[in-house]
Amino acid sequence: MNSIRLRPLSHFFLALFLTFAAVGNSTAQQADAAPVATAPAASKDGVTPGSTAAAAPAAAAGATTGDAAAISAGNALFAQNCAQCHAINDVVVGPALKDIHKRRPISWLIPWIKNSSKLVASGDEYAVKIFNQYQKQQMPSFQLSDAEITSIISYVAAESDKPAQATAGGATGDNAGKVDGQDAGATAGAGTGSSTIDILLIVLVVVLLVLVVTLVIIANIMKDVLRGRKDLDGRDVEQLESRFDLGKIYRSPVVRGLALGLFVLVVLYESVQGVMAIGLAQGYQPTQPIAFSHKLHAGENQINCSYCHTSVYKSKSANIPSANICMNCHSQIKTESPEIKKIYRAIERKQPIQWVRIHNLPDLAYFNHSQHTQVGGIECQTCHGPIQNMEVVYQYSPLTMGWCINCHRETPLNTKGNGYYNNLVKLHDKANGAAPFTVSSNGGTECSKCHY
Ligand code: HEC
Ligand code: HEC
Ligand code: HEC
Ligand code: HEC
Ligand code: HEC
Ligand code: HEC
Repeated sequence: MNSIRLRPLSHFFLALFLTFAAVGNSTAQQADAAPVATAPAASKDGVTPGSTAAAAPAAAAGATTGDAAAISAGNALFAQNCAQCHAINDVVVGPALKDIHKRRPISWLIPWIKNSSKLVASGDEYAVKIFNQYQKQQMPSFQLSDAEITSIISYVAAESDKPAQATAGGATGDNAGKVDGQDAGATAGAGTGSSTIDILLIVLVVVLLVLVVTLVIIANIMKDVLRGRKDLDGRDVEQLESRFDLGKIYRSPVVRGLALGLFVLVVLYESVQGVMAIGLAQGYQPTQPIAFSHKLHAGENQINCSYCHTSVYKSKSANIPSANICMNCHSQIKTESPEIKKIYRAIERKQPIQWVRIHNLPDLAYFNHSQHTQVGGIECQTCHGPIQNMEVVYQYSPLTMGWCINCHRETPLNTKGNGYYNNLVKLHDKANGAAPFTVSSNGGTECSKCHY
């Protein structure tokens, strides 16, 4: 009668363990996917389609062609300008923006985003309150148009009330006219929010617990029945009376193998992530020897970038200005300020001001400013971010090879009025028809272009 075994119980626990592992893994993946979807600027390569060059035209179009376009433009603008300090559901540097469209009217939001300190200075009750609540940190001013701000808010609104289910029909256009700009965003939500996943997980755990309890009860009933039988041999009795033993599971080679495999996978994943981050300095923001503010000079006083970075349109490097350039103004302006006196001291001692370098490609890569700013016609802000809003400069872009190459793949060449390109454009159009003439189609992804 040795056909009766209680083995199934241990098999059941193994299955339970596997289910948990699988569920845990899939939720982790979903949770990973969510922030990437809402903050494209945070992706490894920094440049996501449309997050830079496409943002402005898309915002302009958004005002006329409906909500989906406005929301995606808002998404790009948000990622570019706001995501380093704001998230929808979490406090980052500034408050969580969930339901901001319900909290504040657009007539308040536009002046706030354009110049929050002005609104605080004007004594606006809400502005003063939130400013004090966040330790009087100043939110930077943004030179965004009303349409762009509205699109950011529609994006935030869409993220705020993301429904559990998004119908593809939202894009058919016939309802675009019916719904008002802010709430229509709701239809753009994609997939399940993380809260739904949490609920699903809880339900699963409860179901599994109920199963465990039921099985334990069944096992006990079966034991009782078996104990009543007289025809069991020694091994069966031994098995019947053996107590449930966690050690057995622990000693099981299958479980051990699985645990080891899991451990190795985690270590591997972490080390790959670590290795990928070596040499990345995105966000690097050292303290400078003089409290020089780009916000004050390039932003509020609108001094042209090339007034100080004189070589940026002409040569490979953008230079850092010498103290003489500062003196053009500061021989007269703010002469009593202790920070300005540091400039005078440097000049008296005939020693340069020791600015801390922020951007720094490794020597193996070749990057030329004039090729990008003068010939390519790319704005400084595309690569350096909102410098005119930075009190202290930080590295905005990742400066990885993937970042360079991505942009070369996506950016059409600025060929207008550039005789050098006349024949090349004709040849390209003949060979490729309507395909855009990007930097990469002109060889901008060849290794030797960027590597010595
Ligand atoms: C450098 C960090 C920073 C950036 C970038 C930033 N903010 Fe803020 N924001 C703040 C802080 C800090 C506050 C809290 C108020 C204060 O201290 O002035 C705030 C407050 C707000 C508020 C009021 C929130 C509430 O709960 O009432 C809104 C709306 C807002 N920001 C929108 C934006 C938008 C839109 C952008 C992008 C265009 C943006 N912010 C970019 C830091 C930032
Ligand atoms: C009044 C002079 C002045 C103006 C105008 C100015 N800058 Fe600067 N810039 C400096 C000085 C000084 C530094 C070095 C100190 C620092 O990093 O803040 C600097 C540093 C930088 C850096 C970081 C350099 C590094 O170490 O990697 C960037 C990028 C930059 N500026 C871009 C700009 C852009 C873009 C503009 C125009 C929107 C601009 N600057 C306008 C004086 C100026
Ligand atoms: C084209 C004119 C101009 C140039 C060039 C210039 N500044 Fe200024 N700077 C200003 C103005 C205007 C102010 C604001 C003065 C005020 O707040 O009344 C200012 C303010 C400052 C302040 C703040 C002083 C304080 O105590 O409030 C510092 C620091 C400063 N500048 C450093 C520099 C440095 C360093 C350079 C050279 C890299 C430089 N500036 C070049 C015009 C200039
Ligand atoms: C296509 C991207 C791109 C654009 C556009 C761009 N920069 Fe840069 N910038 C870089 C990179 C990459 C570096 C680092 C270069 C290095 O380390 O060799 C850099 C470095 C700098 C530096 C530090 C000094 C140096 O040359 O290493 C300054 C200052 C600067 N940029 C200013 C500007 C200004 C001002 C503009 C606009 C007129 C501008 N940049 C436009 C990518 C760009
Ligand atoms: C914002 C987009 C953008 C980014 C980011 C960018 N580039 Fe470019 N790059 C361009 C454009 C546009 C051109 C074409 C300019 C022209 O018309 O010659 C170009 C041209 C070049 C060329 C000349 C290619 C040729 O065919 O002669 C080199 C080299 C280059 N880039 C290197 C770099 C490196 C290195 C980086 C990263 C550190 C970088 N670029 C990042 C847009 C970008
Ligand atoms: C558009 C410019 C560009 C092109 C094209 C390019 N690279 Fe790079 N590459 C870079 C930059 C910038 C870095 C430095 C980035 C960093 O440190 O993260 C780099 C880094 C590297 C490194 C060193 C990686 C490290 O972590 O030290 C290797 C190897 C490399 N590139 C190989 C290649 C090969 C092979 C090709 C051709 C298939 C190529 N690159 C094409 C810009 C480019």
